[in-house]
Amino acid sequence: MDTEPLTLRPLGDTGIMLSPLGLGTVKLGRDRGVKYPQHFNIPDDRAARQLLDQARALGINLIDTAPAYGSSEQRLGELLKGQRQHWVICSKVGEEYIGEQSHFDFSAKHTRASVHRSLKRLNCDYIDIVLVHSDGRDLEIIQHQEVLQELAQLKAQGLIKAFGMSTKSVAGGLAAAQCSDAVMATYNLGYRDEVPVIDYCQTHRRGLLVKKALASGHLASSGADPVQQSMDLIFAHPGVSSAVVGTINPLHLRANVAAAQRSLAQFQSTDKDSGKGAS
Ligand SMILES: NC(=O)c1ccc[n+]([C@@H]2O[C@H](COP(=O)([O-])OP(=O)(O)OC[C@H]3O[C@@H](n4cnc5c(N)ncnc54)[C@H](OP(=O)(O)O)[C@@H]3O)[C@@H](O)[C@H]2O)c1
Repeated sequence: MDTEPLTLRPLGDTGIMLSPLGLGTVKLGRDRGVKYPQHFNIPDDRAARQLLDQARALGINLIDTAPAYGSSEQRLGELLKGQRQHWVICSKVGEEYIGEQSHFDFSAKHTRASVHRSLKRLNCDYIDIVLVHSDGRDLEIIQHQEVLQELAQLKAQGLIKAFGMSTKSVAGGLAAAQCSDAVMATYNLGYRDEVPVIDYCQTHRRGLLVKKALASGHLASSGADPVQQSMDLIFAHPGVSSAVVGTINPLHLRANVAAAQRSLAQFQSTDKDSGKGAS
C-alpha cells in the first residue's frame, strides 16, 4: 500500500480512540432529499463491502451513520458482521426520514426506542457514539427537551459509550459541549463560523467531529487542490478529533486519506519544531 494507515487519536476525554478521518455513510442508504452536486447510485453490497474493507485497510475506524440515512444503519449491520470490534460507530437520534420527509422527536421515549432500534439494526450490543441530530433549534433542544438526559442514562447503562450533538449554530455547539462528550460541527473552506466551538472543545477536552468537511462536494471553485486545502484547514486546528467525510468512490477515499496524511504530517512536524510535540 502506498498510503500509510492513519494513526488513531482520542475523542476528547471519552477514552475512545478514532481515526482522524471517518467515513460518512449517507450515500450508502439514501439518495433522496440530499444536497450533493451530482446524482449517484447507492452502491450494491459488493461495492459497499469493498469500500468498507478499503477504509479499514487505510486505517479508518470511525463510521458515521444515522436513522435518517435511509437503509445505512441496517446495511452496516450486515456488512460489518464479524468485525464490530474494529469500528467506532457513531449514530444519531432525533431525526426520522420517512416518506421523503424529515420528522423530529427529542422526547425521552423516542430517544430510548431509537437507540434500541439502532442497536438492533447495527447488530451490536453497544454503540460507541450517539449524537442528537438537530433540526436547527439547538438551544431549545438542549434546554427544553429530554434527549440529552436520556442519552446520559443510556450511557450509564452501558448501551452507548459517549453522546453529544450534531449542532447547527455556535451557541448550540458551545452549549452541547458543556453538557456532553462530543459535538459534530460544520467546518470547511467556505464556512468557518463554528471555529469557537472547536476552540472550546480543545480547551475543555471534548470530542469534536467535523461534518461537511468538503462542503458536501461543492468544492469545484475552491482552488487548484480543494481536497488538500480542506484537509490543511481542518487538521491545522488541534481541537478537531476527526473529520467525517462522505464518499462512495474508492479513488476519492484513497485521495482523502493521502491528503489527510500530508496535512497531519505537516502540522505534527510544525508542533515538533515549536516544541509542542508529545515527549
Ligand atoms: N449530523 C448531521 O447533521 C450531518 C449532516 C451532514 C452530514 N453528516 C455526516 O457527515 C458526512 C459527510 O457529510 P457530507 O456527505 O454532507 O459532506 P462531505 O463529506 O463534505 O462531502 C461528501 C461529498 O464530497 C464528495 N467527495 C468526497 N471525496 C471527494 C474527493 N476526494 N474529490 C471530490 N469529491 C469528493 C463525495 O462524492 P463521492 O461519493 O463521489 O466521493 C460526496 O458527494 C455524511 O456522510 C454524514 O455521515 C452529518
